[in-house]
Amino acid sequence: MERQRTTALPAEAELARQMEYIREIRQENDRYFAETGKHKKFYSLAMGCQMNAHDSEKLEGMLDEMGYERTQEETEADFIIYNTCCVRENAELKVYGKLGWLKHYKKQNPNAVVALCGCMMQQDTVLETIRQKYRHVDLVFGTFNLYKLPELMKTREESGCTVFDIWQENQEVVEDLPSIRHFPYKASVNIMFGCNNFCSYCVVPYVRGRERSRTPEDILAEVRKLAADGVKEVMLLGQNVNSYGKNLENPVSFAELLRMVNEVEGIERIRFMTSHPKDMSDELILAMKECDKVCKNLHLPFQSGSTEILKKMNRHYTKEGYLELVRKVREAMPEITLSTDIIVGFPGETEEDFQETLDVIRKARYCTAFTFIYSKRTGTPAAKMENQVPEDVVKDRFDRMLQVLNPIVHEVTEEQVGKVLPVLVEEVSKHDENILTGRTEQNTLVHFSGSKDLIGQIVPVKIIENKTFYVIGERI
Ligand code: 5AD
Ligand code: SF4
Repeated sequence: MERQRTTALPAEAELARQMEYIREIRQENDRYFAETGKHKKFYSLAMGCQMNAHDSEKLEGMLDEMGYERTQEETEADFIIYNTCCVRENAELKVYGKLGWLKHYKKQNPNAVVALCGCMMQQDTVLETIRQKYRHVDLVFGTFNLYKLPELMKTREESGCTVFDIWQENQEVVEDLPSIRHFPYKASVNIMFGCNNFCSYCVVPYVRGRERSRTPEDILAEVRKLAADGVKEVMLLGQNVNSYGKNLENPVSFAELLRMVNEVEGIERIRFMTSHPKDMSDELILAMKECDKVCKNLHLPFQSGSTEILKKMNRHYTKEGYLELVRKVREAMPEITLSTDIIVGFPGETEEDFQETLDVIRKARYCTAFTFIYSKRTGTPAAKMENQVPEDVVKDRFDRMLQVLNPIVHEVTEEQVGKVLPVLVEEVSKHDENILTGRTEQNTLVHFSGSKDLIGQIVPVKIIENKTFYVIGERI
């Protein structure tokens, strides 16, 4: 038997209701602790993008409030939650692999609860597969009702049935959920949800719905609260931040929002992602340039260098238009570094199209690039296109792309060597407790030796050695 779909109350009432469930579960967990001397443990895994990572911070915050303790060991967890991604097929395969393993785990630990949420769960075919093949899953919910975790856990406990609660939309944003930040000194802030762009390869608009922007008041209140809590760097998150604010009752542009966040006392660095080139306005370039706290580092996915392919991708810009944008951005901010997303092997991509992609890489000179092999996603227009490129051809292009890209990344990083740059110290290296890691404004990862008291501070570091994907520095 399954329990399904509930509806939303207004956001504030929803929060109050969920907090009530959290209190009930906490009481049960406190009793468990009193009886056994042990805390119940949760294991949480966020797959995919920063949006999912940030959503998981909220799930983890709620579990923490319920009295669960976090564990990094899946094999000792009483509650396991995977926040799934479906942008590419390999992310989905990973989840099915984990579910196979969990079948055994649940046999040995029948009281363990397994929850699946996030983008992948918004697809009917996935739900069908779970219903038929993975009956040991206890809780399934999607991207629109994440805040309902406490209630769904309670429903599961009381009914003993698998709970499926998938919504197709939700305009309400439940503010002020408890949250555990992955870093104390930097935080992500959602400024909008969903996407209206329907790039022909991409499943995101189908699983995260239409664009909804949070009001500047709510965003600023969150940023101020974070600043009061010691956060120095905020990352403003949205699938396409450049179209922020268009659907608000009183429309506000992303450039205006940046200027407002720039005024928040205590915040020292502002980053944002992702920018769609078609919506990157002159107003935004000027705001980036003029706001002293906005990091001079821009993630500007181009996906393909071929105008022909960009058209089939429904991206609404040309190769020349993109390169002109890069020129304008660099002219305004000569110190800026750029990163990007690239897809190789989109249907119909010829060797000539691929060469155009290499040309953009050479001309735009990225400090980092996220490179992807095209993955066919059911339900997207690209999945039905003819001339899907054979796997061996795509693999060969992918390798050739890295051969062009990596030396450029090395050269761009080299430009930092010899400079003294402010670094926000993030954490102690996982491999050596005397080494700290942090990031420059340009988002270069820096390793340098120093005391862990520096974590959370912005300190000057001289860059002395280029390791391509990170640099070695020296505290001065
Ligand atoms: N195949 C490969 N890469 C994809 N991306 C989105 N959809 C697909 C797909 N079907 C990439 C894009 C996007 C990033 C988040 O993921 O490059 O910018
Ligand atoms: Fe996907 Fe395009 Fe929206 Fe990015 S802008 S989430 S690639 S549809």
